[in-house]
Amino acid sequence: MAMVSPMGCLHTLSGVPHSLHYHLSFLNYISPVFSLSRDANYDQRRDLKQMHWHKTSAMLKHRPRVHSIPSVGCTPWKYSKLIRSHSLICKCQWTDSNSGLSVDSGTEPEISLNGTTGQPTVEESEALLKLKNGNEDLASNGMHMQSEANTEKVQKISSKSIEDEAWDILRDSIAYYCNNPIGTIAANDPSCPSMLNYDQVFIRDFVPSGIAFLLKGEFDIVRNFILHTLQLQSWEKTMDSYSPGQGLMPASFKVRTVPLDGDDSATEEILDPDFGEAAIGRVAPVDSGLWWIILLRAYGKCSGDLSVQERVDVQTGIKMILKLCLADGFDMFPTLLVTDGSCMIDRRMGIHGHPLEIQSLFYSALLCAREMLTPEDASADLIRALNNRLIALSFHIREYYWIDLRKLNEIYRYTTEEYSYDAVNKFNIYPDQIPPWLARWMPNKGGYLIGNLQPAHMDFRFFSLGNLWSIVSSLATVDQSHAILDLIEAKWADLVADMPFKICYPALEGQEWRIVTGSDPKNTPWSYHNGGSWPTLLWQLTVACIKMNRPEIAENAVRIAERRISKDKWPEYYDTKRARFIGKQARLFQTWSIAGFLVSKLLLSNPSAVRILVNEEDVDLVNAFSCMISSNPRRKRGRTAVEKRFIV
Ligand code: GLC
Repeated sequence: MAMVSPMGCLHTLSGVPHSLHYHLSFLNYISPVFSLSRDANYDQRRDLKQMHWHKTSAMLKHRPRVHSIPSVGCTPWKYSKLIRSHSLICKCQWTDSNSGLSVDSGTEPEISLNGTTGQPTVEESEALLKLKNGNEDLASNGMHMQSEANTEKVQKISSKSIEDEAWDILRDSIAYYCNNPIGTIAANDPSCPSMLNYDQVFIRDFVPSGIAFLLKGEFDIVRNFILHTLQLQSWEKTMDSYSPGQGLMPASFKVRTVPLDGDDSATEEILDPDFGEAAIGRVAPVDSGLWWIILLRAYGKCSGDLSVQERVDVQTGIKMILKLCLADGFDMFPTLLVTDGSCMIDRRMGIHGHPLEIQSLFYSALLCAREMLTPEDASADLIRALNNRLIALSFHIREYYWIDLRKLNEIYRYTTEEYSYDAVNKFNIYPDQIPPWLARWMPNKGGYLIGNLQPAHMDFRFFSLGNLWSIVSSLATVDQSHAILDLIEAKWADLVADMPFKICYPALEGQEWRIVTGSDPKNTPWSYHNGGSWPTLLWQLTVACIKMNRPEIAENAVRIAERRISKDKWPEYYDTKRARFIGKQARLFQTWSIAGFLVSKLLLSNPSAVRILVNEEDVDLVNAFSCMISSNPRRKRGRTAVEKRFIV
């Protein structure tokens, strides 16, 4: 066994029984030489200062990327002990301080959490101390106290406001692992007989919760979430003997309490991830890793603690996600090719191929990752690939996904079957594809990015998250971003109506619904993913509106939500064209509905905080983009010009 090479190990592991996995994992524990990491240089670069984890060996249960958790307790113990060594009185701890930031652990936060700067006043500190029951160390909680004190003061004004209630429910949804908060479960609906997987921590669902906690100055839960989910990234995941790519992040995970081996009277906690192998439809959670990167950057910007993103294991995690996304494939387009249901819409909805939501998150994650990657030789190639992709991706989306009245008219007059390098109708779109509803619906002022583009196929549906996040990430140009908001205003009755915000417009009906969704009874017209209204989308709307300096749009939406969301018990989604009914199968007390509302409120009262989420337009990208625009066949024909500029 000792002769097995790291690559040999890697290959042997795919598809072998679990017991053998554990055994090999154990070998990895006792000798870093057998690291399962794909990054062969890792061990040379390993920096013990970065190794913060003191984990008990139960973490092996989820077979983490071994090098990321140098564990004080694990190394010399025998295997059986390694996988089960902590009981209900959990021994999991951090070796560094896990209770807030130490003042010198990072740089200054980029935002003022409470809209003010400087230290808390004496009164604020005292008020906070009382509020915290006097049992927490003031110094160790650092900056976040200022914001808590202020927020608490505001809360005193109206006793039990909707926000107070929302915070209470959000806190009730916190999941703990070894007594540390590590995420929030998807829903906490006592009336619901079947929880399915809503009692799990979903990566995408946690993002608004995480942002809410960050804006409140409570950083630990986000830090724990980031580091624990990173561990799960390297789980040996298989579905019917097939393993998806190594950088994949789970859709969700559950904290399970299981009996301790050989001791009936004791239990231990384990993290049990789902990469889609148990999810309904076995959908791949492509967006998880992208959201993880976005949240990681937000954490650093908000807390000022850059030590997390600088850790070797975190840097490796970022690179693994990027490698998975940037890997060469058969694809002709710079957009990420995915299967149906690989994002927030996690059911069959005809969004396979190159859905906008994935592209906007991809673009945002690439920009965030570029900001966080520490410079070193090994990442130079990756940065080059990343830059090339950013340019090609923004060009592709801005040019080919954009639609407004002018472009619609252009498509209406397209010539088809153009065989040439400089075709105008590159994707061979037949004008008849323009749906009748769109000719009526498109406002004179405004436009949007279509849902998907494939050969001879444009999905003209308006997908909210993709459009909003294109604004946030600057994937859309400034003009396009304003035009999207213009369209939202013009189509308020369709997209907001009685509850913000419609997930997509319009719904698939009749034969189209039968063919595209496979007659999905959950996705009937104007319900759930098929034209349902999702309160959680409020927070993305708010970030986009504040970024474009048009907060009043988000304020109006929040006002509408406020009228009934708490009375309705914070549903997951609403049904009907005007969002008048609570969704047929909607969970109540859905965490991201609550967190989305709170994030909107917090951001509207402190708009500069959106900086932790937005990506400003990159000047180099703008230059490269304008070069490509001027070589676009619609403006200037000629193959050589395009070729020259694509090689960046
Ligand atoms: C539904 C949603 C998905 C969400 C999950 C948990 O499956 O489609 O986006 O993550 O519920 O709330």
